[in-house]
Amino acid sequence: MAGRTAEEHMAALVVVGAQWGDEGKGKVVDLVSERADMVVRYAGGANAGHTLKVDGQKLVTHLLPSGVMHPSVRCVLGAGMVIAPEVLVAEIAECEGRGLDVRARLTVSGRAHVTFPFQAAIDRASNAGPRAIGTTGRGIGPTYSDKAARLGVTLRDFCELERASARDRVAALVEVWSERARAVGVEAPTLEGTLAWAAPLAKAIAPLLGDASVAAYQAVRAGRRVVFEGAQGTLLDLDHGTYPFVTSSNTVAGGACTGAGIGPTAIDTVLGITKAYCTRVGNGAFPTELQGDEGERLREVGEEYGATTGRPRRCGWLDLPALRYAARVNGLTHLAVTKLDVLAGMETVPVCVSYRIDGRIYEDLPVDDLERAEPVYEHWEGWDASVAKARTMEDLPRAARRYLHEVETRVGVAIAIVSVGAEREATIVRREVFSR
Ligand code: IMP
Repeated sequence: MAGRTAEEHMAALVVVGAQWGDEGKGKVVDLVSERADMVVRYAGGANAGHTLKVDGQKLVTHLLPSGVMHPSVRCVLGAGMVIAPEVLVAEIAECEGRGLDVRARLTVSGRAHVTFPFQAAIDRASNAGPRAIGTTGRGIGPTYSDKAARLGVTLRDFCELERASARDRVAALVEVWSERARAVGVEAPTLEGTLAWAAPLAKAIAPLLGDASVAAYQAVRAGRRVVFEGAQGTLLDLDHGTYPFVTSSNTVAGGACTGAGIGPTAIDTVLGITKAYCTRVGNGAFPTELQGDEGERLREVGEEYGATTGRPRRCGWLDLPALRYAARVNGLTHLAVTKLDVLAGMETVPVCVSYRIDGRIYEDLPVDDLERAEPVYEHWEGWDASVAKARTMEDLPRAARRYLHEVETRVGVAIAIVSVGAEREATIVRREVFSR
């Protein structure tokens, strides 16, 4: 049965990063999952690091959806993902060690692609030099490249290595990577070694395989609340980010359709997450970046170190043209602003409102000219008082409320959620994001 009757009302929500990743998607997905039936991750792999803090406990997920902390939420990993089997198995074990039964409620797409250790090793080996992307070294680019070259190994093949055609695919991949490894001086993989490594992991993952597209579709059709969880951020999208300094997948909301295997009509809400300022990890343009003490202050107060790699994040001011860009390419219906607490104690807060290139002003993000674009700042009134205990908009200092009001007005998207600390309860929920 296709199409939608007037009575049916979908309740599918896509959560995307509106900047360069690390916006706090993990916390927001955890929060909205309280009312969700299913959370589906649709792109990326173990390059992501979603930090969840609940009741003083901290869990960083790299592959499992951030809804995992809610025991009744079904978790799905979509076909658009690239999965490092040893990371998945370790993450499930960590959750089980905390008393969270994950296996009974997890479906992993057999169409997702496997990241092998040799792909990650070469990703790390290629991470130096003047043209380096500064990747997370998790083998993401190599895995997606192999997928596009029709050389990749799906999780289904990985879990059926007794089948000759599946073994042949692994053998062909190992052969290609042995040559590449030798060329960059990394230990070359062997078929025997790879199969021995794979066997226990395949055994652990095989019972979890399923059709993620069917699972998501059925949940949406049945009127369940489904969250599609993005990884990284809009400006790291392979097609719409600051290429070539991007990740290798579609991080934008459209990626939920291709990555999870659902049609665009299934989605009715797109929530974009932005920090109250801006950060970036890895190389590439970042026009509002701060080099000196101010950047250091944001890094220390905001604890801006990568959840996956521990790398210090580059810090800078909020970029409204970039947010308007994210609003357009994702079709944002709502915004969540995180880390508002980090800005307390500043007399004024600089915000980039437009760009200047060769004397001309651009209100839209000059995404292909960012290296030479000069940010135009306004200095908005700051606030002294801590906002960490605020639970309603009225609890916020007037200048903080104005800051948020200006952001939503100038981006043209309503702010539904404001986060004022890492814990689940350190949040102001202004509007319900599920449409029902
Ligand atoms: P890759 O995804 O590991 O190939 O890295 C490509 C670029 O995306 C690099 O600039 C990384 O720092 C960045 N990146 C990848 N994953 C994340 C993330 O979860 N948060 C922030 N940046 C990321």
